Amino acid sequence: MSSAAATQSLADIPTLTQVYRSAGRRQAASSTGDFPPSAAINARVGLVNGDITKLCVDALVNAANTSLSGGGGVDGAMHRAAGPGLLAECRLLRGCPTGEARITRGYRLPAKHVIHTAGPIYDHIDPQRSERLLRSCYEKSLELADACGVKSLAFSSISTGVYGYPSMDAAKVACETVRKYLDRGSSALERVVFVTFEQKGVAAYAEMLP
Ligand code: APR
Repeated sequence: MSSAAATQSLADIPTLTQVYRSAGRRQAASSTGDFPPSAAINARVGLVNGDITKLCVDALVNAANTSLSGGGGVDGAMHRAAGPGLLAECRLLRGCPTGEARITRGYRLPAKHVIHTAGPIYDHIDPQRSERLLRSCYEKSLELADACGVKSLAFSSISTGVYGYPSMDAAKVACETVRKYLDRGSSALERVVFVTFEQKGVAAYAEMLP
């Protein structure tokens, strides 16, 4: 199969509404109790397990590092799929502090843009600081997406690979931050997709569903 044939369009990515429907689950009260269930939000949020580089969305969020010089994990996968133009544009940006976000074009990726955010290396001594920085990664990426007219945005699971952030805790930060952002009502984002890759990620996000 060619890589073009393996791409996944937005229509192929289930929203939470469809996830609930296919699982035969009625939307229940939130397990965390922090947020009331929202049919409108469930229709705007997608969840997919697979390779983020295959998604045809307006922008992908890359779990980058502060030098924006590429690396392993999802960052490496994005640079391989995008080709050398991505690294060349990243070099012009002169890095990205932890908790911030920068945008580039997507080059050979099916996505039009890449938003690069540098997540925190998980600090077991000061987990609150890690949480603050991870929350900031999601917020800054969402704000940048809106500022650039992005309508569909797919997040990789920032910091949960080599940076060691516990998946369950990271999933909670991701879900809460996106929910709060969309609840403000000022975003033009039509779809925000969470992308899981390894089984631990899938379990973490499934646990977060109300
Ligand atoms: N598609 C979607 N998710 C992926 C993919 C992929 N192709 N490849 C890996 N992942 C997932 C991992 O399973 C993990 O849950 O991305 C998540 C983030 O893992 P990492 O890529 O290791 O990112 P992070 O923990 O933020 O570490 C960032 O890794 O290579 C470097 O340059 C990067 O230095 C930076 C560091």
